[in-house]
Amino acid sequence: MADRLLSGKHILLGVTGGIAAYKAADLCSKLTQAGAQVDVIMTEAATRFVGSLTFSALSGRSVRVDMWTEPGGQPIPHVQMAAAADLVIVAPLSANTLAKLAVGLADNLLTATLLATAAPWVVAPAMESHMWSNPATQAHAATLRGRGVVQVGPGVGRLASGAQGVGRMAEPVEILAAARQRLAQQGPLANHRVLVTAGGTQEPLDPVRFITNASSGKMGVALAEAARDLGAVAMLVHAPLAIALPFGVEHAAVRTALEMRDAVLTRLPATDILIAAAAVADFRPAAAAGQKIKKTPGHEELVLRLVRTPDILVDVAAQRAGSGWPKVVIGFAAETENLLANAAAKLAAKQLDMIVANDVTEPGSGFGADDNRVTLLYRDGRQEALPLLPKEEVAWRILNAARELI
Ligand code: CTP
Repeated sequence: MADRLLSGKHILLGVTGGIAAYKAADLCSKLTQAGAQVDVIMTEAATRFVGSLTFSALSGRSVRVDMWTEPGGQPIPHVQMAAAADLVIVAPLSANTLAKLAVGLADNLLTATLLATAAPWVVAPAMESHMWSNPATQAHAATLRGRGVVQVGPGVGRLASGAQGVGRMAEPVEILAAARQRLAQQGPLANHRVLVTAGGTQEPLDPVRFITNASSGKMGVALAEAARDLGAVAMLVHAPLAIALPFGVEHAAVRTALEMRDAVLTRLPATDILIAAAAVADFRPAAAAGQKIKKTPGHEELVLRLVRTPDILVDVAAQRAGSGWPKVVIGFAAETENLLANAAAKLAAKQLDMIVANDVTEPGSGFGADDNRVTLLYRDGRQEALPLLPKEEVAWRILNAARELI
């Protein structure tokens, strides 16, 4: 599936001298696979660590190192590449190049190109701990941040010297997430806060047992990522998830329906769009046993007494009636029969702007699957049936619907 954010974007990837240059190859590969056109400029020092052929093979484009020997005979490449770039990433960023960038030197192709571009920068410094903590380096990094440059890392870990310390380059996935966030900053949901709930709540029976459901959280995570890629500040309130948390998304972990309700309600005043994708338990054990429930000889049955949990969306509607926030509320309807009628009833009962109806019995769709077939039902009676699509694509469509509603 084409990556909506990165596809067709011109990314200028600057690679400077450091052992972490090998990780930049992975970053180059990830960007290219996402559909970006990656122009790599290496410093001379970078080529001592990784050959330029690695980057040209991964990006499918020629890699430039030297200001003066231009393979295609193109004049002044630094001006052209600078103008074409939608985003600059420098990874790894050495202490030396960091200093040059802070001062504004243009003594090689990379520094000259960066001085000439109007594109935003994401930098991933990597160096020995002492070089990083040196006041000169710290001052240069602060200068770049002061100009709006996004700095990712450096992290703490094993360094090239074998020592442990701060100075390790951020992981390619983190750099990629920062790049996405920076690219999205001019997106249509910039300056909007989107709160997504995800996962299946767990209602404890005793310290080691609980009642839950088959939700994996994939749909909710895809929604938070789509919100982030459209420029929103995305917040994920999640019950335990079967998948990793996304980068560039704020998150709060909860376990039970009651905890989820509290986490959602306290955040509503700052929320423009709420999307409730969580599978929230409707009933919880009336009392969780303090100790593990034991088998008792002679008792062949165990009767559980369950009580209703609050309906989070009903509480949201009550709060919204007074405050006007969130501006848009979208729910999900997980159904096994009478899909559209049940979903329409929930839309009305929970006073939603839109509900996403999904038949959770369809093979390859819904709970735990990578794809989903949903119908969007709007408050005004409009209905839009979508085909079976990857959850990322479904998320994108839902966010775009939310955008129109707001
Ligand atoms: N929901 C909620 N609080 C609950 C239960 C559900 O906020 N206690 C939300 C879900 O996050 C979802 C929507 O309400 O967005 C519908 O959830 P669903 O489980 O399909 O329906 P229920 O309202 O629980 O109704 P039923 O179980 O009777 O189908």
